[in-house]
Amino acid sequence: MDPSAPGKRMSQSQHTDPIIGQKFGNVVAQSILGRGGMGAVYLGYHPGLDMKVAIKLLPDLFVGKREMVERFLREARVSGRLQHANIVRTLDVGQDHGVYYLVMEYVEGVDAQRLLDKEGRFSPMRAVNIAGFVARALGEAHEQGIMHRDVKPANILIARDGKVKVTDFGLARSITNTAAALTLSNQVVGTPNYMAPEQIKSMDVDARVDIYALGMTFWQFITGRLPFDGPTPMAVLLNVVNETLEMPDEFFKPLPKELREAIVAMTAKDPRRRLPNIAAVLAVLKKARDALRAAGLDSTAPMGGAARSSSPAVKDPTSGFNPRGTTMATQFQLPTDSAGYTKPLGAPPRKPPAK
Ligand SMILES: Nc1ncnc2c1ncn2[C@@H]1O[C@H](COP(=O)(O)OP(=O)(O)O)[C@@H](O)[C@H]1O
Ligand SMILES: [Mg+2]
Repeated sequence: MDPSAPGKRMSQSQHTDPIIGQKFGNVVAQSILGRGGMGAVYLGYHPGLDMKVAIKLLPDLFVGKREMVERFLREARVSGRLQHANIVRTLDVGQDHGVYYLVMEYVEGVDAQRLLDKEGRFSPMRAVNIAGFVARALGEAHEQGIMHRDVKPANILIARDGKVKVTDFGLARSITNTAAALTLSNQVVGTPNYMAPEQIKSMDVDARVDIYALGMTFWQFITGRLPFDGPTPMAVLLNVVNETLEMPDEFFKPLPKELREAIVAMTAKDPRRRLPNIAAVLAVLKKARDALRAAGLDSTAPMGGAARSSSPAVKDPTSGFNPRGTTMATQFQLPTDSAGYTKPLGAPPRKPPAK
């Protein structure tokens, strides 16, 4: 299980970090970008491609552990197979002077957990938009037979230009291979606050664990709180299994009921009562977004007056990044048909502007 509490991060002086300046394959590590349960991610420079990249390293202490090495290499294989606008692209994997490294597309921006740390919570429309992009990424992964299994704000990158990209397929698994998954380690993997009850109970799991975790993430975007938080990982796990997800009036009362309904449908404890697939998730998110718009709650500005300039504006189908103000293709679209979510970018249905 990911031992790092979301939001808490080790800091390390860049000067004392021996990784900085080292070369892994063709890439020179330049500065630290972030740390998670698996390893550290550095900003790097690839001279051959003349391009900034992100490079994830498997810490030394894991190199002797076959299972961790396998997991690391699996992350490379799995993420390498996925090509989607909302998934961080994997470029290379290898081992250099004893260190395993994974080179990926660098997303210049911030992960959603850090953004929450800074801004408290997200406006509901922004929350819906980010959740929608993540749902599209998961739709692609699920279609490729892969479940992510560690969906949470820290694994959602928000680029400066507003693009949303899912990263960290370190726990990803083949959907059809769950039996092997259970016998291999026989341990619980994931981040407790976002883990579906069936994941904790080591029952058969499928793509619905990602839908659950996305629902929890969506809830966190709106409330600014960690779901089912507790003093220890075990306390959190017990809360996940036993407690009902709260919908505090303070956050939900001013919002259309569709937001609460979307979260309830995504986070049912019993997977049989949960939304069954990403198409269904996109449909409830679309309802939530339509209801927000109808209620005039369509601002995506940061909450609490945080400086707009430092906060990436996540795009939505109606935001104008086209100077003439006509509808333009965006990445974000919430189709209601089951095939639609993997279609290439398309213009969302929209009323023609009044002439
Ligand atoms: N491609 C990337 N571009 C920019 N920052 C990244 C990238 N990948 C990861 N990060 C940062 O590093 C952190 C840890 O990366 P992650 O892949 O989640 O590692 P772990 O498996 O250790 O959790 C992320 O939360 C994010 O802040
Ligand atoms: Mg991570």
